[in-house]
Amino acid sequence: MDRDVSVIGLGRVGLPLALSLADRGLTVVGVDRDPDRLAAVRDGRMPFEETGGDEVMARVHAAGKLEVSELVADAARAKHVILTIGTPSFSHIEIDMRDIRSALDDLLPVLEPGHSVVLRSTIAPGTTEFVAGYLESKRGFTVGEDLFVSHAPERIAAGKFFEEIDSLPQIVGGVGARSTEVCRELFDVYESPVVETTPVQAELAKIWTNILRYATFALPNLLMMDCEQYGANVFEVIELINRDYPRGGIKMPGFTAGTCLRKDFTFSEERSHAPGMLLAVSRVNESVPLFLVEGMKRRLGALRGRKVAVLGLAFKADTDDERDSLAHKLVRLLERELVEVAVHDPHVPTPTQAFEEAVGGAEAVVVATNHKEFCGAERLQAVSRLAAPEALVVDPWNCFGAAQVFGYATEIAAIAGADVPSAKTSA
Ligand SMILES: NC(=O)c1ccc[n+]([C@@H]2O[C@H](COP(=O)([O-])OP(=O)(O)OC[C@H]3O[C@@H](n4cnc5c(N)ncnc54)[C@H](O)[C@@H]3O)[C@@H](O)[C@H]2O)c1
Repeated sequence: MDRDVSVIGLGRVGLPLALSLADRGLTVVGVDRDPDRLAAVRDGRMPFEETGGDEVMARVHAAGKLEVSELVADAARAKHVILTIGTPSFSHIEIDMRDIRSALDDLLPVLEPGHSVVLRSTIAPGTTEFVAGYLESKRGFTVGEDLFVSHAPERIAAGKFFEEIDSLPQIVGGVGARSTEVCRELFDVYESPVVETTPVQAELAKIWTNILRYATFALPNLLMMDCEQYGANVFEVIELINRDYPRGGIKMPGFTAGTCLRKDFTFSEERSHAPGMLLAVSRVNESVPLFLVEGMKRRLGALRGRKVAVLGLAFKADTDDERDSLAHKLVRLLERELVEVAVHDPHVPTPTQAFEEAVGGAEAVVVATNHKEFCGAERLQAVSRLAAPEALVVDPWNCFGAAQVFGYATEIAAIAGADVPSAKTSA
């Protein structure tokens, strides 16, 4: 074992982690099966947006501390082997561990006494114990004595890795006390406190961190739909709930999805005592795009043949990550209404139109991602100028600041303080 640490899966979680470890002077082997990703890292290029990533990549590349390989077996050159592979969910509401299993099978023949396998992917409760048992039964190790297996979940949000890696408490749950200790030695390279626990508690803590967020955002989304039913303004109701109220507050509505929130709840739902509760949370969040399409139809009539501009494809503000984005679902739903859909997003890799081209002549403009480029009265003014004269603006995020989920561009541009000549009737 002539290297310090390996990271298998150089994705949104694994690559920033590998870079940050190398940036702290460790010798790192990064493994991925995607040749494009490996080529980018070999060239010293970030393959996706991550705040601060370009600078760290440049330093690590110059120092030569991160080498890459397409062979999982090469990970065994390091004592610490971290798995940051994707863990999607089957539509059966069950974790899909095929990629993890495949990497473990590639590791099996090359694991030696003293190796520490760290699961950093998000996993269903019981998975760390399963992995320990799998390695014991296939290779005869005694986990906690001659091989170490831990779960050290990643809880950093996309775009915040380099900001939070030295501050967010690092949860470590090893199989046996020694596994926890060995894993802790690795994470002590960061300034963040290490919190020791059992593997299943580490797994539950990660999943429920995301379930809390998913459910928290479902409430304002449900309220937004209720408000439409009662002719109420969701932003005013939220203001009434939150103003000077000392016992917490409700969040703002919006598109709640992305690769983690959309699937992590299923790892609990797999064997839930209240089956359906979290599925209902999912259904609320998933129904927001349809709610917006139906709202547009109520105001404009049939959408067939109309031009609708969608602003944003990323699932999250100010990122280029489109995975499991509800903006794509919105586009699909609009296409099924035979709408002429125009899309603009300045961040994502999917080719989109320029802002002026997408919004020009549109009869409706939907803010699907609250990128900072879309926020503020000035942007709304541009929409009002470029879109069709009676254009409907759909802004569940209140990005434009007019506090209207549905409003006519000229009217809400006036509300948001922009310089427009006349106001139309309320949507
Ligand atoms: N993206 C996030 O913000 C985030 C945050 C916290 C936790 N997580 C969790 O971290 C894990 C990884 O997520 P991600 O977003 O980085 O995924 P990702 O899809 O961006 O990256 C996974 C990488 O693993 C590679 N890979 C898959 N199977 C492989 C194999 N057998 N051998 C070699 N390489 C392989 C893929 O090519 C890919 O580059 C998931 O469990 C996810 O739920 C993600």
